[in-house]
Amino acid sequence: MKKLLSILLMALMVFGLAACGKKKVNVGIVLPTKDEPRWVQDETRFKEALKDTKYSVEILFSQGSPAKEKENVEALIAKGIDVLIICPQDGSAAGAAVEAAKKEGIKVIAYDRLITDTDAVDYYVTFDSIAVGEAQAQYLVDQAQGKGNPLYLYAGAASDNNAFLFFEGAWNVLQPKIADGTFVIKNSSEAVALQSKAELTRDEMAKIIGQVTTNWEFNEAKNKAEAHLTAASDADKGDVFILAPNDGTARAIADAFDADSAVKSYKITGQDAEKASIQYIIDGRQSMTVFKDVRTLVKDAINMAVAILEGKTPETTGSYENGKIAVKAKQTEVIVVKQDNVKSALIDSKYYEASDFTGLK
Ligand code: BGC
Repeated sequence: MKKLLSILLMALMVFGLAACGKKKVNVGIVLPTKDEPRWVQDETRFKEALKDTKYSVEILFSQGSPAKEKENVEALIAKGIDVLIICPQDGSAAGAAVEAAKKEGIKVIAYDRLITDTDAVDYYVTFDSIAVGEAQAQYLVDQAQGKGNPLYLYAGAASDNNAFLFFEGAWNVLQPKIADGTFVIKNSSEAVALQSKAELTRDEMAKIIGQVTTNWEFNEAKNKAEAHLTAASDADKGDVFILAPNDGTARAIADAFDADSAVKSYKITGQDAEKASIQYIIDGRQSMTVFKDVRTLVKDAINMAVAILEGKTPETTGSYENGKIAVKAKQTEVIVVKQDNVKSALIDSKYYEASDFTGLK
């Protein structure tokens, strides 16, 4: 009995000490998943940028689960954070997590993806996502000659507000070229039904995205592309044009089209300048990517957090409607990367090292 009591006492002391000695975390960062190179890249860039900061920062990953994301936010709230930087897995589901943070007086910065349908988001740092979609579509338009070019459309996850912005940008540029017969949509009856409309409502976009979503997943993209190719006749193939929303899905879709003998050539878009896709571009297996310099986004997010911690007002350049409020935002431009500017855009800017690639000229 005595022994048990003394063990209990010791346990209590150790626990108590740990609780007192627990270091406060100033800024909590929550990222969607480690399974996509994009977000591992963001983690790396955050760590580089935070090397010399006097503030303590903790980064957690939600592994594709809004429930895990909420747990992460709660864990960070318990550690006393003053600022939360969060890239939601699901823009709408994240509302509950950030509302819990707001209740504790924590300022919330949405990072890259907007959190929708809540007033509990204070700021948004982002790239110009409409410009991403426009750049992808413009690339396809610039490559197309004559009329009747087969067009295959793919989109991101419907739970990600960015998927809508990318699609909206792409539609702005593609729709006139579908209307004039340059392109013929081959894989979406919903898009065909709406092809004469220059501007789509969110519900209309949701119909198309629902049909051609990749959910941002490699396997879903691959399976969908294969199913589309199986359904298409040889006449729907030949020299094809593919709107792929990001690099991971672009490689999956490119591989599927590459493996089909009725596809003579394909032009395919991407986004993120992932290392694997830069190698694909060098090798002529992916046509382009949209480079979003994560170093800038990270710097903007950190500057915002520091301004908040120091009681200043963060610098913003505009705002985004999230379905409930207009969220003050800081936005960054994007750069198109093709075979001919890999070196100037990515190597000279020290984003990557030339030795990361083979066959780079
Ligand atoms: C990001 C993209 C990313 C995609 C999938 C989007 O919200 O803006 O950079 O490729 O999510 O993770």
